Amino acid sequence: MRNFIAQRADVLKPSGIRKVNEKALAMERAGEKVLHFEQGRPDFDTPAYIKEAAKKALDEGDVFYTSNFGTMQLREAIAEYLNTRKSCAYKAENILVTAGLSEAIYCVLASILDEGDEILVPDPVWMNYLNVPKMLGAKVITYDLLEENDCQIDLAQLKSLVTPKTKAIVVVSPSNPTGGVLDAASLQAIADIATQNDLLVVTDEVYERLIYDGGKHVAMASLPGMAERTVTLNGFSKTYSMTGWRLGYVAANADLIKTFNKIHQISSVCAPSFVQTAGVVALKEEHGEVEEMLAEYQRRRDYAVKAINETPGLSCRVPGGAFYIFINIKELGISSADFCQRLLEEEKVAMVPGDVFGKNGEGYLRMSFANSYESVVAGCEGLKRMAAKLMNK
Ligand SMILES: Cc1ncc(COP(=O)(O)O)c(C=O)c1O
Repeated sequence: MRNFIAQRADVLKPSGIRKVNEKALAMERAGEKVLHFEQGRPDFDTPAYIKEAAKKALDEGDVFYTSNFGTMQLREAIAEYLNTRKSCAYKAENILVTAGLSEAIYCVLASILDEGDEILVPDPVWMNYLNVPKMLGAKVITYDLLEENDCQIDLAQLKSLVTPKTKAIVVVSPSNPTGGVLDAASLQAIADIATQNDLLVVTDEVYERLIYDGGKHVAMASLPGMAERTVTLNGFSKTYSMTGWRLGYVAANADLIKTFNKIHQISSVCAPSFVQTAGVVALKEEHGEVEEMLAEYQRRRDYAVKAINETPGLSCRVPGGAFYIFINIKELGISSADFCQRLLEEEKVAMVPGDVFGKNGEGYLRMSFANSYESVVAGCEGLKRMAAKLMNK
């Protein structure tokens, strides 16, 4: 039989996160107990008021296709959420509801990138921003977000990377995998470069509610003059612990939304109807549930950061957001992949090698602390033992 696989599927590598996860699951099937820090999946149940809303919607027969754009109630609720919480000025026409944020990323990038177009993407970054442009035949040009620069942009570098083929700058803040949050200067610099060079900013704000130490997230679209050229991607997966529900959205100018919808209508038609109904309730009837989860994440983060920085051979910066710690293992003289493999096999602790997220991730591990406090404590003990073995070798 001939090879039926299209090149665009061939360029996609299996996810490095899944690889670790699958190995961990195989170990569990063989009877071993593994501590999981490899997945960006909140460990909390979805808040009860949202589950009740979904059950009620199902009971009331909310089971059919909706408008491709999403229900008017949800589009209006999302616009109101962004306007009141993030100082934006959206209407329902600026919102496209998608089946999770991953689908939103695909719809947006497939709508704006022709073959050979260039897109500026942070390094390190969550892999979809590398894989989707590649699959579309576009060229990914990476800009650095380095630990030694506190995960902020290097303005001169970013400017130097813009060419006539550049279409957009991708921003992910708070960041997966580093937990870094772009400061006001970085955000403004990106906005200025986009404006001066007539670029779009595609900003992934899925972790915007998970900001620690009382910090406040600033939406790119709220910066002066940026609403028109900003494409905001967000969703319910992380904020409301709804990863399995598949509900996300894009906010952008109404013309772009109509174009994104052309791809969305052929890829998923619409997000699930009763999930959209529950999404309206999630936004409108929230009473401290997110803050409660945030406080627990912060407790785990504070413990893990202290434990890691007290471990000879390991270090990390304090992540300002999301639920990831990017652990520096450079002093140990071992690759990220080898460290992760040994950590899993010898200590039964699953983490992701940093190089999965780009070349700047080599020498780091990503620890997701979306796992119980007790597991975080036990995981840090495993890390400590592993580092000690390598220090004493
Ligand atoms: C930065 C970022 N964007 C998007 C997603 C995917 O979100 P969803 O589950 O809504 O597709 C993730 C998931 O890990 C993420 O880290």
